[in-house]
Amino acid sequence: MSGRIKKAVFPVAGLGTRFLPATKTVPKEMLPIIDRPLIQYAVDEAIEAGCDTLVFITNRYKHAVADYFDKAYELEQKLERAGKQEQLELIRHVLPKGVRAVFVTQTEALGLGHAVLCAKAIIGDEPFAVLLPDDLIWNRGEGALKQMADLNQATGASVIAVEDVPHDKTGSYGIVATETFDGRHGRISQIVEKPKPEEAPSDLAVVGRYVLSPKIFELLEHTATGAGGEIQLTDAIAQLLKSEPVNAYRFEGTRFDCGTHLGLVEATIRFALENEKLAQPAREIMKKMLAE
Ligand code: UTP
Repeated sequence: MSGRIKKAVFPVAGLGTRFLPATKTVPKEMLPIIDRPLIQYAVDEAIEAGCDTLVFITNRYKHAVADYFDKAYELEQKLERAGKQEQLELIRHVLPKGVRAVFVTQTEALGLGHAVLCAKAIIGDEPFAVLLPDDLIWNRGEGALKQMADLNQATGASVIAVEDVPHDKTGSYGIVATETFDGRHGRISQIVEKPKPEEAPSDLAVVGRYVLSPKIFELLEHTATGAGGEIQLTDAIAQLLKSEPVNAYRFEGTRFDCGTHLGLVEATIRFALENEKLAQPAREIMKKMLAE
């Protein structure tokens, strides 16, 4: 048994080009699903998993992310004076007591692997989580990262979230091959970034949740630019496999790819249908629209 992960990295320094023009000024991670930005869902998942140090990898255009986690004095005062206790609690408890946020700048968007490497000095020599907030994972039970942290604690090995994707979609994901996959998890024997369907070793795709050994940092330091001219986290994980066990974990839950238009629409519908006040009227609106 090893210790429990305490630190989570949120790489949010990407350009978010698929959501232009909105992302010209609004970071992708601040796009809301109903009333909460994507980043809040990922942060809540990390806290539920036991993390108390949240490391945001940002850039000069992403002040909104830091502002979101900061105190909003004027707004708090106004709500307090107006007696709007419910709203006051909402903005006061963006982060619970005992959880700290650390911001690190990625000066150039050199890729996800490079973004993770930027967290090295804060993480030090302990296993840690990486969450990509545009992969929103929803379920009614334990969060995906909590499930993965439990496996990491039990095995001491790195854990990577995977899900089945249609065979013709392998070219959009990192794809893994596993030994001894029992339906829930198995040791990864191979990982390939965005393979063509005919070259994909399986249909198990990596999604945006990782629990990684700190050894990944020295590997990232020596990772050359790969697919798309970026330093790929997948390439460093491919190296990690050679010296340490890394498990693929098929999480319980539904992932919405909120880095795409359709994923954001789907997540919005799901959360509206789960919301006590919105479920019924949202159903009626949808029925009416579908009948048109
Ligand atoms: P994406 O591949 O989704 O890229 O990055 P993107 O720039 O955010 O979005 P598009 O494709 O242009 O629309 C995956 C994750 O890695 C982060 C992103 O913020 C996102 O969470 N990332 C990517 C960085 O932090 N830095 C980088 O240099 C690249």
